[in-house]
Amino acid sequence: MAHNKRALGMLGFIGVGALALGLAGCSSGDAEPGGDATGGSGSGDLTTVGFVAVGPEGGWRNANEQAIKDAFTEDAGFELKYAPAASPSDQKSQLDAFSTFVNDEVDVILLTATEASGWEDSLKLAKEAEIPVILLDRGVDAPEDLYVTRIAPDNVQVAKSVGEWATTAFPEGANYFVLEGVPGLSVVNERNEGFDEALGGKSGWNKVGAQTANWKTDEGKSVIETVLKANNNDIQFIFAQNDEMGIGAAQAVTAAGLKPGTDVKIATIDGTKGALEALSKGDLSFVAQYNPFFGTDAVDAVKKALAGDKVDSTIIVKSATFDSPEAADKALADGLAF
Ligand code: AHR
Repeated sequence: MAHNKRALGMLGFIGVGALALGLAGCSSGDAEPGGDATGGSGSGDLTTVGFVAVGPEGGWRNANEQAIKDAFTEDAGFELKYAPAASPSDQKSQLDAFSTFVNDEVDVILLTATEASGWEDSLKLAKEAEIPVILLDRGVDAPEDLYVTRIAPDNVQVAKSVGEWATTAFPEGANYFVLEGVPGLSVVNERNEGFDEALGGKSGWNKVGAQTANWKTDEGKSVIETVLKANNNDIQFIFAQNDEMGIGAAQAVTAAGLKPGTDVKIATIDGTKGALEALSKGDLSFVAQYNPFFGTDAVDAVKKALAGDKVDSTIIVKSATFDSPEAADKALADGLAF
């Protein structure tokens, strides 16, 4: 497929001759990237997709990366080259994988960045090689013309729903603490923005502090144990930016002799099975889903990008919210957990 793309790429520079060449190249194979709706790519000429991924990180990540693997199958006309980072915070392994995909002339690159900064040079190389890049989940600090689109739920809106719920749960305000994801990530900044927007100067809200727990349960527990001790347990609300940290916070609240959901309410983002079970039990009080299932959206964006069709600069994935044990039980029964 790469040679076809190159031939088509040349069209801008040479003229009718190349046009005949390019179309001839397409007509001999299946010009439609990724095959047709019935699956299969006709000539067997698969679209090669380089997926610069995060790799094992937690329940959300596993669900999201599996959804991408389930969508970009050979039957659907794709050869997916999966490249997980050496660790969820190892950008160098991602940069190396990215440049390997460019050198291998894959047809398209999917990128979930472990860091928001440091991608501009890589994205420029892909653009020079006429390889479209599609961001999944996480944004990057780079000009929008260097990538086709970003596919993700709206982190600002998801976090705003947490803040709006909190202001109804605590009409007089509360002392609260924020457990953040890995520092510097687009989603961390966006979640802080949305939550703060919802609180928007409402009286009675006292931010005791914020600290990263690196998306992890054990770190969430350790941070909140320290925070509760330092504040004589006078914390009423905890916003955890993902489920695993929120579950850790609930463990710390219990260890301090307090009752999660009564003495301290905890709200999280993601919607994993563990979180919905904790919500059902009352250990969590609110869970905002960060819908990981956007494999089909990614396939559609790849097909449009390779066909030269317009793709919106951001593709928002709809997400739900769960605000009670009954809502959690229904979501679990309906198979919405992951
Ligand atoms: O980028 C999405 C975040 O990364 C998820 O909310 C979190 O669980 C994951 O680690």
